[in-house]
Amino acid sequence: GDETSTSASGSAQEPAAPGAGSVKQQISNLVALSLRATVPEVDVEPIVEVCTGKFGDYQCNNAMGLWSKGKGSGTSFKNPNAIGQAIAKNLPACDVIESASVAGPGFVNIVLSKSWVAKRIQDMLVNGIKTWAPILPVKRVVLDFSSPNIAKEMHVGHLRSTIIGDTLARMFEFSNVEVLRRNHVGDWGTQFGMLIEFLFEKFPNWEELGSQAIGDLQVFYKASKQRFDEDAEFKDRAQQAVVRLQGGEEKYRAAWKKICEISRNEFDQVYKLLDVQLEEKGESFYNPYIPQVLEKLSSQGLIEESEGARVIFIQGHQIPLIVVKRDGGFNYASTDLAALWYRLNVEKAEWIIYVTDVGQQQHFDMFFKAARMAGWLPDPKEKKFPKTSHVGFGLVLGADGKRFRTRSTEVVRLGDLLDEAKSRSKSELLQRLTENGKIVDWTDEELEQTSKAVGYGAVKYADLKNNRLTNYTFSFDQMLSDKGNTAVYLQYAHARICSIIRKSNMDVEELKVSGNISLAHPDERVLGLYLIRYAEIVEEACTNLLPSVLCEYLYNLSEMFTRFYTNCQVVGSPEEPSRLLLCEATAVVMRQCFQLLGITPVYKL
Ligand code: ARG
Repeated sequence: GDETSTSASGSAQEPAAPGAGSVKQQISNLVALSLRATVPEVDVEPIVEVCTGKFGDYQCNNAMGLWSKGKGSGTSFKNPNAIGQAIAKNLPACDVIESASVAGPGFVNIVLSKSWVAKRIQDMLVNGIKTWAPILPVKRVVLDFSSPNIAKEMHVGHLRSTIIGDTLARMFEFSNVEVLRRNHVGDWGTQFGMLIEFLFEKFPNWEELGSQAIGDLQVFYKASKQRFDEDAEFKDRAQQAVVRLQGGEEKYRAAWKKICEISRNEFDQVYKLLDVQLEEKGESFYNPYIPQVLEKLSSQGLIEESEGARVIFIQGHQIPLIVVKRDGGFNYASTDLAALWYRLNVEKAEWIIYVTDVGQQQHFDMFFKAARMAGWLPDPKEKKFPKTSHVGFGLVLGADGKRFRTRSTEVVRLGDLLDEAKSRSKSELLQRLTENGKIVDWTDEELEQTSKAVGYGAVKYADLKNNRLTNYTFSFDQMLSDKGNTAVYLQYAHARICSIIRKSNMDVEELKVSGNISLAHPDERVLGLYLIRYAEIVEEACTNLLPSVLCEYLYNLSEMFTRFYTNCQVVGSPEEPSRLLLCEATAVVMRQCFQLLGITPVYKL
């Protein structure tokens, strides 16, 4: 992949409205003003990080760099510390910063004003969490995810792609970026010849068939493959069928459509369960664009003849990228080139993101490089956008450490998997409620909705919380445990906050407007500060395409809440109004995290 690890801070083109953007962005803006005053002769981007030590909340790390690059010379600074002092002194007076001090070789430690933090939280409670959206330097993103193959298995890899892609989409959408959610389904290729012939053979009445009539498409695929491998005459007909399909012959188009439709029905069931929106633009959609795109590349001298195929040689790669096969057919790479061309020129996307297993990294690396050679993408050193990124992910493993499979079938049916998560969470919920004598408070509908939210949420969270590049072991027991970093634990944490708020006799809605948050206790301040970091966490997760960053935040937030709740009495204390608002703000932020992770929050458990 070509992910960037730098934050988008300070790179937004238009000046933001005051108070807009993440806290880090706002501090960066203040530091930028200070830098302009401190070293007016140099053009330098502010470097602002969360403070690692305990002397500040954020720190500015520009002094060292300015000094070592000699940019502080020619001025009166005698060492990096002096530059730091000047940066601290030149920070504009405002209500954001309480104080700034300088440590060691010029690190400027910035302490935020408690009342500003409190006001920011209260503003959010009144005006909604959307006011905490980060400002990202792109307006339109194409997100290519899920993308299973027609008539082949939709396997756990596609589940990962679907879950990771959906979360990325939600995070960008929250950040006011337009997202084109693209399902790049494998609906074109030579396998259709054999599928179509097999359909004709097995179901002479195929035109009237409903979407269920063929039964299992994977079984159908296997059977047709077997026929293809064993019978030379069938193989011949299948190869003819590909030609006739690609030639646009009516009957073959119709059969192809039928098979796609059946597959689509199956996929849609999974998307519905997962509450994932996708727009299908499969490989076939880009097929008509391939010749003209290859023509352009050819006229630029990028395409060469090699062993009967047409290829692009790419620096750093032993084998070339094949764009026309020896038999004259197009392939995965030619389709991806045409799709990229379309996404850049017709859809005008600034960032095109592909979510697939890491196994495809080489493919993406090669065709991204080809696009750069063709001048479609700028040199990343000069301009950041448009750009492409491959979001790779590792394997899902079973308890045996091998690729995840179920006992009965070779591949895991995603619908079954989600069902099992739901029914397991339901029986645990039932057992717990019965033990506590609380079962009477629950309607069947509530039980059903809750087990669904908890079960599906557990599957999603178990996937998202890991750094996506690592393999992870699929374990119902682990993901459904109410201890540790699991969705179940987090659902409990959220439900508990809701119950605290319910138990208080105060009206939170009223308090939002009339009350006042004070962050007098150290644990209140820590919690408050972490709450307002929400936007920069989303910003980081988007910039680095890492949903795990958001999961980690959510988990930490719940831990910080626990510390606060343990050390600060809420209900019945003199501080109840302020602390209740902190509870509410924590619940709101947690819910927004759940929302971005595609998890339905529960209010009672
Ligand atoms: N259909 C492919 C697969 O199952 C994923 C497609 C990813 N998107 C793309 N533009 N290549 O592996």
